[in-house]
Amino acid sequence: MIEKYKNFKNWVVYQIYPRSFFDSNGDGIGDLNGITAKLDYLKELGVDAVWLCPCFKSPNVDNGYDIADYRQIMDEFGTFDDALRLIAEIKKRDMKIIMDLVPNHTSDQHEWFLESRKSKDNPYSDYYYWADEPLNDWRSAFGGSAWQYDDVRGQYYLHSYAIEQPDLNWENPKVVKEMQNVVDFWIDLGVDGFRCDVIDQISKDFVNNRNSFGPTLHDHINQLFGREKTKHIFTIGECWTKEIDEICRHIGPDRGELSTLFQFEHFDTGRRNKWEPSDTGLLRVRDVLTKWQILHQENELLHTLFTDNHDNNFYLSRVGNDKELRYESATCIATMIYLMNGMPLLYQGQEIGAAGSHFDSIDDFDDIESINKYNELLARGKTKEEALFAINFGGRDNTRRPMAWTAGENGGFTTGTPWIQMGSRAKEINLESDLASEKSVFKYFKALFALRKEMEVLRQGEFIPLHKPEDKFAAYLRKLDGCRVCVVTNFDKTQTIDIPEMKGKLLLSNYGRADGDASAFRPYEVALYSVE
Ligand code: GLC
Ligand code: CA
Repeated sequence: MIEKYKNFKNWVVYQIYPRSFFDSNGDGIGDLNGITAKLDYLKELGVDAVWLCPCFKSPNVDNGYDIADYRQIMDEFGTFDDALRLIAEIKKRDMKIIMDLVPNHTSDQHEWFLESRKSKDNPYSDYYYWADEPLNDWRSAFGGSAWQYDDVRGQYYLHSYAIEQPDLNWENPKVVKEMQNVVDFWIDLGVDGFRCDVIDQISKDFVNNRNSFGPTLHDHINQLFGREKTKHIFTIGECWTKEIDEICRHIGPDRGELSTLFQFEHFDTGRRNKWEPSDTGLLRVRDVLTKWQILHQENELLHTLFTDNHDNNFYLSRVGNDKELRYESATCIATMIYLMNGMPLLYQGQEIGAAGSHFDSIDDFDDIESINKYNELLARGKTKEEALFAINFGGRDNTRRPMAWTAGENGGFTTGTPWIQMGSRAKEINLESDLASEKSVFKYFKALFALRKEMEVLRQGEFIPLHKPEDKFAAYLRKLDGCRVCVVTNFDKTQTIDIPEMKGKLLLSNYGRADGDASAFRPYEVALYSVE
């Protein structure tokens, strides 16, 4: 594996949803100074790099993914100087900063769009996709047609997401140049990498009627990240493919494109869609992850290890037991995934075992996707209860509710009124209570990441699965030269697990298992052995 990728495996990345992380000035909205105030906390956890969800100027139709100016900070999040200070404070702690780049679309309030819609012949007229009639039957990811008629220009434009998020036309070389300039602007300010939002959509495949993976996709990405200035930075693409050949084209070490991409197959845990619980749970997750570990290794690619983000409910609430066995499931899932071969990435709240919320009224929701989904379900004849169940289970607001730092008022997130209600379990699940508990998820995560830092085999070693398909647990080996570590994670049923590699010093346990103990594994029990 190339040096650059090896180095990225030394990073633990922490995803921050700025709006909901920490509010420094009491207006109820998380902000950049709030993030700066918590950097020592992240350092203590063992974080090496932070990824900020978009914090650029935005009317917030899609919470910052609708950008009105790529070079300015959103008013509610602070000033440009606050951003510079945040970058400097991150560097001071020897950490990295990854920004969210949204290349597929802008806000309809972006100057480019305001100009573009004015007429068919102005310098910006071809920055977006315009047509006299919808060119196809494409749907917006948030519901409805992807084509919207614009009165001002008297034509339709394409929007793959909200109506207020027009798609940029990357076939116009001026758009490519603009986006290169945006990337360079932030690199010059010290940014170490980019998470690239729905980057597979910057090239449309009109011929095969597909709103992504068009014929120019690789060229475009290469023009962004294959340049002298950009080829060393870290880039991770949100790119929805399960085809290994296509993945190699994106993240192959010689491609000059992305460092890695999110592989989402384990998000489909057996359910028919995002909004319904599954029944196969962690066994399927294990098999899917095992498959991807091997494929990444065979092709010398960097695998990103993650379970949570701002677009789904907490993984713990979807595949674990977030009630009686919350600590055990949270630590078990983290151990299984973060000790695999790749780069760990976690989402705010995971380190305290944060879980999904339950709200009884649609008025308690903010997210455009959830609200549209609710209305769509009602229109399809579902009851209000059924529609609420779906969005409570799958909705994006779950992970977007503010981080609970204390057991006090508003979880210590703000001294004002939070922009969205705190999670329904914030009084029970918060950092303060977690640290006071004998079963602290935070302390376990900290120990896990510390061990990863300490043992090179856990960062750079080969992944070798030890479980058989019929087993109801996950077990694997990490191996580097003569050094071997055996990782065992049980799922929800108590059972005896006996594999030859389970010997040697016990490195970590979430039940206080002792060295040499051969008793049955309890639900979600974890054990780690340094194999002699
Ligand atoms: C990505 C983001 C999501 C956003 C969408 C449109 O999927 O993760 O939050 O709504 O792109 O930008
Ligand atoms: Ca604030």
